[in-house]
Amino acid sequence: MIPSQIAQESKEHTFVSWNAQAAWSPLVMERGEGVYVWDADGKRYLDWSSQLVNVNIGHSHPHVVKAIQEQAAKLCYVEPSATTEARAKLGAMLADVAPGDLSKTLFCNGGTDAVENGMKVARLFTGRQKILTRYRSYHGGTFAAASAGGDPRRLANEPGVPWIVRMPDPYAYRNPIYNGRTQEEGDAIIADLIEEIVHMEGPQYCAAILVEGYSGSSGVMQPTEVYFNRLREICDKYGMLLIVDETMSGFGRTGEWWGINHYPKAVPDIITTAKGITSGYVPLGATIVSQRVAEYFDDHVLHAGLTYSAHTLAMAAAVATLEVYHNEGLIERSREMGKVLRRGLMDLAEKHPVIGDVRGTALHHVIELVKDRRTREPISGFNQPPSEPMKRAAAYLKQNGLTTLVRWNMIFNTPPLIITEAQIEEGLQILDGALTILDEYYEG
Ligand SMILES: Cc1ncc(COP(=O)(O)O)c(C=O)c1O
Repeated sequence: MIPSQIAQESKEHTFVSWNAQAAWSPLVMERGEGVYVWDADGKRYLDWSSQLVNVNIGHSHPHVVKAIQEQAAKLCYVEPSATTEARAKLGAMLADVAPGDLSKTLFCNGGTDAVENGMKVARLFTGRQKILTRYRSYHGGTFAAASAGGDPRRLANEPGVPWIVRMPDPYAYRNPIYNGRTQEEGDAIIADLIEEIVHMEGPQYCAAILVEGYSGSSGVMQPTEVYFNRLREICDKYGMLLIVDETMSGFGRTGEWWGINHYPKAVPDIITTAKGITSGYVPLGATIVSQRVAEYFDDHVLHAGLTYSAHTLAMAAAVATLEVYHNEGLIERSREMGKVLRRGLMDLAEKHPVIGDVRGTALHHVIELVKDRRTREPISGFNQPPSEPMKRAAAYLKQNGLTTLVRWNMIFNTPPLIITEAQIEEGLQILDGALTILDEYYEG
């Protein structure tokens, strides 16, 4: 099929997610290698977002491709109550890198169901129902996971599932609580408000607090230790569990194995993860629990499961992917290359007044774009279709061979962890061009 036919047939017979269908104009992709992907016309794109912040080890890594091929040639699938060598290895490898005594994993197909399992486990374990979550967070696309996330993608499904309680956000750039205060002072107030919410909801009904280990698609808005330490204390004080969603922030994205590793005192009871666990090569999600939680299910039924729980190919892909993180030192590399990325973004912020804020760490950064640095008015509205300036900027990036996530007034900078300094420079130069367009709309 020629590329235009592929696009046409795809449009006619398949849906694109989270979009009205008519405007869909897909890139027709053919192959990937390292930090680059090529479309069917042979045009090369720098993958500046690791697709959906999952292709952490870059495209078509030979070690993982070989592991998938070898597993497929031997055995593609066994049902989940059987096991394989790769599953045994993967469970132990995850226990090894997980914080605290988190050491037992329930496998599923992606981040959404990992979160759903985390919520179910917390409810079964505590015998309570309510889950507290942040407004500015995303936890997945199914009914319960979408309800749990505060991201506006939930709105079309509301009222959603009951027993989700939302908490205010530690969004220092915009939340008025932070005006005239240090971030630590603002975070302490947010934590006080959260404790007050637990009181008002009745601690005896509150099963867990669920937060991203490091904020992702909502805009990388991350608190200090003050906040996370207090969440841990609140959970301990009221017999609740701390569920940390590491779907996006896991596997070196933030320069640590997990986003929550930036807060060593806030050891979670449950981690939910996906994406980087297989670098996106094969779907896989994981819910990793502490020993205390695991032991509860020794004599209580774990009411959860899927046909593709612990899928044989996914187990082999994940073992090989974790080997790549270890063998190539990618967690440390994310930290080091992140310094180069951050320096470059800060330089761009000096040059382009339209950049209101640069947030993140390691290879996990967002820039937030404003019409006026003083008023902080966004250049494109929250939960609105993209404004003209953002449309022009997004088109420029694509035309100039860079793919990334552009959302509301934010551009994501989350390339694969294998990226080199020269490739970061290449990306920053293209970004520079897009920002020059956006500066035309600056009103400050
Ligand atoms: C923090 C977080 N949790 C959950 C999910 C849902 O994961 P999936 O799309 O693999 O179901 C995402 C997806 O972006 C995410 O970023």
